[in-house]
Amino acid sequence: MEQYVIKGGNPLVGEVEIGGAKNAGLAILAAAIMTDETVTIDNLPDVKDINVLLQAMEGIGVKIQRINRHSIKMNSSLIEDLSIEYEFIKKIRASYYLIGALLGKYKKAQVALPGGCNIGSRPIDQHLKGFKALGADVRISHGLIMAEAERLKGNHIYLDVVTVGATINIMMAASMAEGTTIIENAAKEPHVVDVANFLNSMGANIKGAGTDVIRIKGVTNLHKTEYSIIPDQIEAGTFMFAAAVTKGDVTVKNVIPKHLESITAKLLEIGCEVEEFDDAVRVVSSKALQHTHVKTLPYPGFPTDMQPQIGVALALSEGTSIVTESIFENRFRYVDELTKMGASIKVEGNTAIIDGVSGYTGARISAPDLRAGAALVLAGLSAEGITIIDDIAYIERGYEDFDIKLKSLGALMERAVTDKEIQKFRFKVG
Ligand code: EPZ
Repeated sequence: MEQYVIKGGNPLVGEVEIGGAKNAGLAILAAAIMTDETVTIDNLPDVKDINVLLQAMEGIGVKIQRINRHSIKMNSSLIEDLSIEYEFIKKIRASYYLIGALLGKYKKAQVALPGGCNIGSRPIDQHLKGFKALGADVRISHGLIMAEAERLKGNHIYLDVVTVGATINIMMAASMAEGTTIIENAAKEPHVVDVANFLNSMGANIKGAGTDVIRIKGVTNLHKTEYSIIPDQIEAGTFMFAAAVTKGDVTVKNVIPKHLESITAKLLEIGCEVEEFDDAVRVVSSKALQHTHVKTLPYPGFPTDMQPQIGVALALSEGTSIVTESIFENRFRYVDELTKMGASIKVEGNTAIIDGVSGYTGARISAPDLRAGAALVLAGLSAEGITIIDDIAYIERGYEDFDIKLKSLGALMERAVTDKEIQKFRFKVG
């Protein structure tokens, strides 16, 4: 099993290129099957989640040609199977975006019901509510979601919760329904806007993405396009907090600073200096970190995908901080691991009460999920001594070349598979 072995204490210094947004890429790949013409997609991150979805798409007959590590050409005119197998949904729940895309294009889709995952139950009731509102007959049997419609007709849909997935899935199906669909209480994340822009580049008619009311006028077909994915605001935020916890000076490049505003605001609150440029942000952490409070919220609030990372920083800050996780019910799984490194955190329901400590000590820990795993790497980078992190496959689902990028900033770390490699690293770093 791959591990990271880290010798903490080095401030991270330098510049790092941020890749394409995983969560935009997943939805855009699904939306791209809605045309029979060829689509070119650039700035795709080379991460496991993206590559598993590409396999699922090839499994139903999508022709995919990889141009280079971050670009593909695809053609979906020969799709012969409208059913997505459980093996793919089990690996990447975002395969459920294929329901909205297949339903919109073929008026029929069958996808295995995605289970919960390690951050919460992850229901999809709002997705199904939207498909039904568009006129689809939606049934669940034998663990499969079957959606079918003679015709899809636009409707006025009120989401009961702000949900990125349902907003995107309904937007896709509605883009080829007859008439107008209005989605109220829509998610406003940058990747929702990116998917809408992508669909519009294929000839869809979507207005209002990025606000809580999205208006979609259905079209009868979508055409070819060439599109580049937006930068990943969570990857960027993770490196910005890496600078904070290692007393470093890091510039994240190829970002959209506006997408990072809530992250920047919190870094300023805990005592970092932040400088914004057109497509870069520089974070300098030279003073002792200060405590603050944070509540995760839908965009433009502080993102839930950054909650473990700020938790690691606050556990090193002077004073007591309160972190409230309002989106998912099980997103504090990093706390037990961080406690092994000396953190003092009490979790009560969806709130963590954090008493800052002066520093972490290295320990043997494991990554509980994607973002918690990335946050624990940040803890290892700031810890005194050696930290070994198991189950890093979770982290590599969503971060391309995470160790390589961190080492380019001065991190002392290696990917290891055997104890021998760990001993070699220990010997090398002394
Ligand atoms: C997306 O998940 C992201 N995943 C998540 O990122 C991210 O944490 C989340 O949005 C919130 O920003 C992808 O884009 C692939 P939601 P999604 O639907 O769409 C409830 C990562 O680390 N809900 O916005 O599944 C749900 O339980 C991942 O990259 C319903 O009740 O999130 C949650 O409490 C982790 N019914 C809230 O809404 C529904 O039908 C927000 O979920 C759908 C959601």
